Amino acid sequence: MYTKKLIDFIEGDLKAIKDNGKYKNERAIEGAQGAHVSVGGKDVIMFASNNYLGLANHPKLIAAAKEGMDKFGFGTASVRFLSGTQTLHAELERRIAKWIGTEDVILYSTNFMSNLGIFATLVNEPFGSAEAYKDVIYSDANNHASIIDAFKLCKKENLDKRIYKGGDLAMLEQFLEEDKEKNYRNKIIVTDGIFSMEGVSANLPKMAELAEKYEALLFVDDAHGVGVMGETGRGTAESQGMLGKIDVVSGTLGKALGGAIGGYIGGKKQLIDLLRQKSRTYLFSNAVPASIVNAGIAAFDLLEGDTSLTKKVKENASYFRNLLEKNNLPTLHGNHAIVPLMIGDATKAQELSKKLFENGIYAVSLSFPVVPEGEARIRFQVSALHTQKDLNETVEKIKELYQK
Ligand SMILES: Cc1ncc(COP(=O)(O)O)c(C=O)c1O
Repeated sequence: MYTKKLIDFIEGDLKAIKDNGKYKNERAIEGAQGAHVSVGGKDVIMFASNNYLGLANHPKLIAAAKEGMDKFGFGTASVRFLSGTQTLHAELERRIAKWIGTEDVILYSTNFMSNLGIFATLVNEPFGSAEAYKDVIYSDANNHASIIDAFKLCKKENLDKRIYKGGDLAMLEQFLEEDKEKNYRNKIIVTDGIFSMEGVSANLPKMAELAEKYEALLFVDDAHGVGVMGETGRGTAESQGMLGKIDVVSGTLGKALGGAIGGYIGGKKQLIDLLRQKSRTYLFSNAVPASIVNAGIAAFDLLEGDTSLTKKVKENASYFRNLLEKNNLPTLHGNHAIVPLMIGDATKAQELSKKLFENGIYAVSLSFPVVPEGEARIRFQVSALHTQKDLNETVEKIKELYQK
């Protein structure tokens, strides 16, 4: 039952969230995702979606989703290892592996689930063994919530965590050096490919060099990189000449690649096989439905023959970033379609985001603890669908409403 104590607790927590300006109001969009959307009958330019390539409402993906459903039905009604694996799943896994340059791939319901699934599989005790050991994970402080939560599924007694400051590879190396003589079983270095609050990349060549030198596995979560980074959109590794050279790559179909749902891990065949056997978020959660899987395949059909969308999103992002800079509006020197407008004060950022919305621009403010205290910002996510007119109008509005 809902006891009074429980209700008081829930209401107290909600109040604390509200009092701290952290309460999230969900806006309902009246239609499909796009460069412009309608909210409350009003047209606004969308800068708050991960629809980097504009595939979220692409006719080819919609047709493929319908075809997938017609041929394979609506639901899988099962997890993969019981009866949820359809031929389409294996085909999509092959296509992702080819795209991101790993030996094999395993598909999860989301990238959050794939990240939750892998670390516990690697760190917790091997099947049937009672031998004592310890692993160590080196993780960037700015890594995604799914990675932070993934470590909580690893048994404490088997894992040391070393969190280095965002992008600070000297600190990472210092940790690796300090740990050299410790008798760890496995070492894992974990980073986002693109940091989603900044729109900047991890330095993968340097990280791979450190991983090699200190015999650690390198794991890169490329949720925001895939589809956007690199000449053909194969991700952050491609953009840094590292395609096929990253040990483990995770990513999502929920952003640039159509924006629906589905996450994956790519890596060596043996690792993927072990994940199929042991990873609990894969084993005990339903298989992705055929409509989504077939649309995922269609996304790769589209991108394999044509780099125009990947090129366009980069052009738009750099046009927008340059325009902000030209107008002395504070941003960061990133290389991704995430372009933050740095505000500093959380209330100011929230108010500006609200005013922008009233003026037809949909972009969200982010503040502590999502970003460091005093570094609140408005995050603009540029899409291949935006026109120069959209971007010009947006910067004009920011200029008008922004106050130092
Ligand atoms: C870096 C990163 N990793 C993982 C995820 C989770 O992806 P999904 O929506 O597929 O669960 C996100 C999404 O916000 C992300 O930004």
